[in-house]
Parts: sequence; structure tokens; C-alpha cells
Amino acid sequence: MELSQVLGTRSLGGNLFITRFRSPNIAFAVLPGQFVMVSFEGVLDPLLPRAFSVCDVSGEDVFLFYAAIGKGTRMMSELRAGDMVTMNGPLGRGFPDVSAGKMVWIVVGGSGMAVVPLLARRLNRRDAKFEIFSGARTESHLVHFDGISTRDATDDGSKGYHGTVVDLIKESFQKDKPDKLFACGPTRMLEAVQSEFGGTVPTYLSVEAPMACGMGFCQGCPIRIAGGEGYYLACKDGPVFRSDEIDFGMGGDSE
Ligand SMILES: Cc1cc2nc3c(=O)[nH]c(=O)nc-3n(C[C@H](O)[C@H](O)[C@H](O)COP(=O)(O)OP(=O)(O)OC[C@H]3O[C@@H](n4cnc5c(N)ncnc54)[C@H](O)[C@@H]3O)c2cc1C
Ligand code: FES
Repeated sequence: MELSQVLGTRSLGGNLFITRFRSPNIAFAVLPGQFVMVSFEGVLDPLLPRAFSVCDVSGEDVFLFYAAIGKGTRMMSELRAGDMVTMNGPLGRGFPDVSAGKMVWIVVGGSGMAVVPLLARRLNRRDAKFEIFSGARTESHLVHFDGISTRDATDDGSKGYHGTVVDLIKESFQKDKPDKLFACGPTRMLEAVQSEFGGTVPTYLSVEAPMACGMGFCQGCPIRIAGGEGYYLACKDGPVFRSDEIDFGMGGDSE
């Protein structure tokens, strides 16, 4: 748990924001795909902390990228330099390592793009190769970060490939295949990635489930274990799972 000072919040257009925090312990320890739980100092509503993937780090600073969709995220977007929050993390299990020279395809939808900058930094450091496939309903919903190039797909064809990002990958698979596939985005996209590619290449999915504690205490984030009885907890056992470990029959968001 770390009391973290806000250094600034930047709008990326629409309801998308990046907030920068001074949070040295988390910046030092975090691995790509791990997350933090953020609580607002002296605030009773929302009472529960909110979960965010660590988007990037720079020195002692942590960047969170988010869509302001409800009370907590709107409050985040109004944070200004000097404000304080409590950040618990880094939490959960992130993406697996990729060896030098291996190719990973990263599939993202919507605010799933949050995992990409830190992941790209790690893959570059490992001399691994990667391509990012980004999908959205329409061009205005595509997320781009400076210096990170993406192959885009839009449902309405307004930018890049005309179709879903899963269709784009399916087409790309006819020419080439990666050594690993990573995916982060809405549950519907993860389910499609799992069923289309899970049996073809090692595939890892970063799931989103409503989280109250982020540490395995409240049992509020169950994800069914594939082919068996019982549940994993998305916060403690995930949020990144190998595709064949989980069954989306229960848990996760319903987008
Ligand atoms: C491990 C993890 C990492 C995440 N990383 C990011 C991130 O990097 N950037 C980002 O923008 N968001 C991320 N989220 C989602 C983020 O936690 C929720 O958007 C946030 O909690 C909403 O809080 P709120 O108070 O603004 O909205 P609320 O008022 O609580 O909810 C607004 C709407 O969002 C839905 N919702 C709330 N939480 C979730 C959730 N976890 N999954 C799906 N739907 C939800 C609610 O059902 C409701 O419809 C992550 C979630 C998890 C579990
Ligand atoms: S969020 Fe509490 S157990 Fe997962």
C-alpha cells in the first residue's frame, strides 16, 4: 500500500485520460499486466477501491490510462497535481515472459490498450518481437499512444481493416503465426480470441471482473476453471490466464 501523489492528469479526448502518480515502490516492482487498486483519500463514495492496469512507468512514476465511465473513474479524471490517493499493488499475475527473437501478437480492444506501453517496454528490453492489433467499433474509439504503432480494425471500416480485430487476426493467421498471443479487452473479444486461436498458439487472456479487494479476500471475482469444478479468482490467480485455464461461463464483464 503506497500513498501516491498525483503529478497530473491529461485528457486523450473523449472520456479517455492518463494520470501520473509518484509511486516509487509500485514503479519499481510492477510487471506488465499487473494492476493496482486505487482509493481516494477521505472519500466515502465510492467506498471501494477501483482496479487499473499499470499502463507505464518512468523512474519513480506510474501512469494509469482509463476511460471515465462511472463515479470512480470520473473522480480520477478530476485529480490534479498535489492530490493524494492510496495505491495498493502491484497485484495479480501479469503476462508471461517472451524470449529474445520470439514473436508475440498483442490483441486489444477499448481500454485494454492500457496494458500495452509497459508490455512493449518489457518486450523491447527482452529483444522479443511484437505486433499490436487494436480493435474498436469506429475510428473515434481507437486508442493510440505516441511511439506505439498498431494494426487497426474497426467494425464500421472507418479506419484500418473493416471488421473485428479477431477477423483481422484470423486473416493474418493465414500468412503467419506468432509464437504467443496476448489479449486484453472486453470479455466478448477475449471469448472470441479463446475459441478461435486458443488451440492454435499459446494464448494468454487478461480478464476484467468487478473487483472489491483485489487481493483474494472478498471472493467477488470468480472465473470458472476450464473443464473442472470450482473457480479461480481473477485478482489473485489472474488477471492474466492461459486461455485453456478458464471458462467464461461465469465471471468477467458482460460487454
Ligand atoms: C484487473 C483490472 C484492470 C483494469 N484496468 C483498467 C484500466 O487500465 N483502465 C480502465 O479504464 N479500466 C480498467 N479496469 C476497469 C475499471 O476498474 C472500471 O472501469 C472501474 O472500476 C469503474 O469504476 P467507476 O466507479 O468509474 O464505475 P462504476 O460506477 O463502478 O461502474 C460503471 C460501469 O462499469 C461497469 N464496471 C465496473 N467495474 C468493471 C469491471 N472491472 N469490469 C467491467 N465492467 C465494470 C459497471 O458494471 C458499470 O456498468 C480494470 C479492471 C480490472 C478488474
Ligand atoms: S477482488 Fe476480492 S477476491 Fe478478487
